[in-house]
Amino acid sequence: MASRRDFLKTSAGVGVGAAVGLGKPASLLGAPAIRRSAVTPVSVASGNGLESVATAVSIVSGGGDTLDAVIQGVNTVERDPNDSSVGFGGLPNLDGVVQLDSSVMHGPRRGAGAVACIEGIKTPSSVARDVMRYTDHVLLVGEGAQRFALSMGYQLEDLLTERSRRRWIDWRATMSDRDDYLTLEETGHAVPGSSRQEDYGLGILDSHDGVRPQGTINCNVIDAAGDLSGVTTTSGLAWKVPGRVGDSPIVGAGLYVDNDVGACGSTGRGEAVIKTCGSHSVVELMRSGMSPTDACLEALRRIVTFTVEPRLRNEDGRPSFNVNYYAINKNGEYGGAAIWSGARFAVCVDGGDSRHEDSAYLFERNG
Ligand code: GLY
Repeated sequence: MASRRDFLKTSAGVGVGAAVGLGKPASLLGAPAIRRSAVTPVSVASGNGLESVATAVSIVSGGGDTLDAVIQGVNTVERDPNDSSVGFGGLPNLDGVVQLDSSVMHGPRRGAGAVACIEGIKTPSSVARDVMRYTDHVLLVGEGAQRFALSMGYQLEDLLTERSRRRWIDWRATMSDRDDYLTLEETGHAVPGSSRQEDYGLGILDSHDGVRPQGTINCNVIDAAGDLSGVTTTSGLAWKVPGRVGDSPIVGAGLYVDNDVGACGSTGRGEAVIKTCGSHSVVELMRSGMSPTDACLEALRRIVTFTVEPRLRNEDGRPSFNVNYYAINKNGEYGGAAIWSGARFAVCVDGGDSRHEDSAYLFERNG
């Protein structure tokens, strides 16, 4: 039997074109529906990625690699203790432990890497890139992912900040009136006239759709050569069941890049995105000729169709949660869409400042 080294030796010099040329006509090999002319570099991200898109565009405009660009873009947010939805300072699971998910896709090399449920590492997107670069695998999870990260030189750190720990303590105290965890009001230690958050020195808590906090950052970029990459990284659903994996590290769900067609990523309720292979669906819809915005909206309609559980529907029968998609096609056209109105996404076009744009939506939010 040939060893892996033999295989590498004999296949050296055989390019991608030859590797895919298995006698099939190009049309059966996923030929791009999108024809590109000159492309202006552009990056799109979730609303919390205003700095990320600027970083990504500046790196690709300087000749940097598209995947390095988006990862550097999101690393800042992963390290930011004030973003409670990603990396350091992300809200923990129900045991008070921060578990992070991330995936990356490198368009030109058709590469993918991901980590799920990784603990103690601030920048899971960089670990995901290392899974892609240094292993024969795509997805590492839990303890194995952490051990791999440590072997690559990452530092083990406590990812809970004082703020995220206090929010978890507060959540634990209000979960049930049949356990022994109490709020400051219940123990009589609250400062009269102040809110519970102020007692904890937390200031105003950020709200995410008025339901359980859930946030993520997705960032995609295209460079002047028309090469694409993307990354999605998150601490996932706050107070989740330990071991829960969302859409962010699932290639095809929270992220998908086909260098012939486009890139897409998601934020919001991961379970809904996984069930509909969300980002892959958006890229396939773009392949069939839809604009990025229309493709995002169509993939969101599939989520609406898939949401049959009464517990996940409001009184009008619509999803009681939100999902957002962010997409770029091979021509550098971009778009963002959400189930509910009011969402915004970040965008930076080469030569301009980063800005927020309103996402398209399926349903108008009342009030
Ligand atoms: N979309 C992030 C998550 O559900 O974990």
